[in-house]
Amino acid sequence: YLNMKKEKNVKTIEIDQRSVDNHQKVMTTNDGVPMYDNNNTLKAGERGPSLQQDHIYFDKLMHFDRERIPERVVHARGSGAHGIFEATADLSQYTTAAFLKKGTVTPLFTRFSTVAGFKGSTDLARDVRGFSVKFYTEAGNYDLVGNNIPVFFIQDAMNFPDLVHAVKPEPNNEMPQAASAHDTFWDFISLMPESAHMIMWTMSDRAIPRSLRMMEGFGVHTFKFVNAQGKGTFVKFHWKPRLGVHSVAWNEAQKISGFDADFHRRDLWEAIEKGDFPQWDLGVQLIPEEDELKYSFDILDATKIIPEELIPVQIVGTMTLNRNPENFFAETEQIAFDPGRLVPGIDVTDDPLLQGRIFSYMDTQNYRLGGPNFHELPINRPVNGKHNNQKDGFARMDIPTGAVSYFPNSKAEGCPYHAMLNGEVGFESHKQPLNGTKVRARSESFADHFSQARLFFTSQSPEEQDHIVNALSFELSKVNDVNIRKRQLAILNQIDKDLAKK
Ligand code: HEM
Repeated sequence: YLNMKKEKNVKTIEIDQRSVDNHQKVMTTNDGVPMYDNNNTLKAGERGPSLQQDHIYFDKLMHFDRERIPERVVHARGSGAHGIFEATADLSQYTTAAFLKKGTVTPLFTRFSTVAGFKGSTDLARDVRGFSVKFYTEAGNYDLVGNNIPVFFIQDAMNFPDLVHAVKPEPNNEMPQAASAHDTFWDFISLMPESAHMIMWTMSDRAIPRSLRMMEGFGVHTFKFVNAQGKGTFVKFHWKPRLGVHSVAWNEAQKISGFDADFHRRDLWEAIEKGDFPQWDLGVQLIPEEDELKYSFDILDATKIIPEELIPVQIVGTMTLNRNPENFFAETEQIAFDPGRLVPGIDVTDDPLLQGRIFSYMDTQNYRLGGPNFHELPINRPVNGKHNNQKDGFARMDIPTGAVSYFPNSKAEGCPYHAMLNGEVGFESHKQPLNGTKVRARSESFADHFSQARLFFTSQSPEEQDHIVNALSFELSKVNDVNIRKRQLAILNQIDKDLAKK
């Protein structure tokens, strides 16, 4: 294991090249000028007022004054690590994705997160956990931006800002800070019966994991593999932890949160420092295109799983996290994940939640990371390089050479061309036939909100069912408005009468 840690990959070599060794170096200004005295401002006499010409002090304070950037609008609290993915199965029949070719090893960075809390909130809040992986593949960056729960609260992206406003602290008093029950959350949930399945998962032990190393991960949406002949196959992604799935009990979660808000972050960091590298197997469920409409649920509906009894999960590779970041801000905070970041061989489907996500991430990162050049930050740079005619913008780091930055052009030298021109492989969208009337609507096939919620509840052991009952009792007992409680009980009654009664 320790050897694996020492083994560098193309991404960690780049990170190392860009890291700065401050050890035993004379302190300088941002311009590299050695600082004579870092203790005192420049004054008119020892007791005199400070002078406006103290450029060295301004250099220091101007930077300090701008240290904070906006935290992520959701998933603000996170912990990350570098690692590798090794593909172990032959998927060539389904996808041209180069990093999934058997035997290929790809560097990656993974970030786990809570969803609702602020950047400084406790790790052990009852919440969904984000599970994002950026694969630095030879064909560009591929981001699998998933969660530790296989379904989601809502079906359509239009509802996302409302969901987040309801779950975040209330706008007047900024309470509650931890994701424990409040009227706004349960008000929204009780008016959105499509959340029933997700609520069963979030009230279960899955929402209070023992360790980030002991969580499953899911792509949630159905995606599409595309093979060399252009044929599509629907795919669901699963991460299976080698350590198994473990949770804490609710009273443990509350105590741990009080004692050590960094409980999960510390656990992940220390395991990796010790050389006890966490591993997950990547699994896929493959659904032939012809079977798209075969099931009693819609595979484009993110509030539904595809039961493993119907389509088993096949293991296709292993992820190992083997190196902690050198710098939390530069790596874990500045990394930018986006479900729209796809590589040849993988495409999106018409899932209306996924379609909405494709806009949001790039848009927020342009804001959160200070403009359109965030791709050039070391943690976000593709290992195969970036070549296009985009230019300028705040904080440009690359220095493109040559006089041409437009296409088409008649100047042969120094300009990038698109892959098609030279018969090379490039990202091609799956040639999916489209047809339809323009409507703002929800498909009837998305209408069954309770069958899978019931399936989840009844699949739990009696002890686990008690935990769900206790979590719902705790949460709803904190809701002041009796009408909200009644409405949520009516939903629980549709899931399972015994559950509602308890
Ligand atoms: C983060 C939007 C649904 C998983 C984010 C961020 C935004 C966002 C704006 C912050 C990104 C950043 O600042 O870099 C949305 C929208 C959704 C949606 C509009 C629905 C329409 C989902 C779903 C999942 C998910 C269904 C799980 C499959 C994540 C994760 C992160 C995240 C894991 C954290 C990424 C990181 O570690 O940096 N989302 N999200 N989101 N979202 Fe979503």
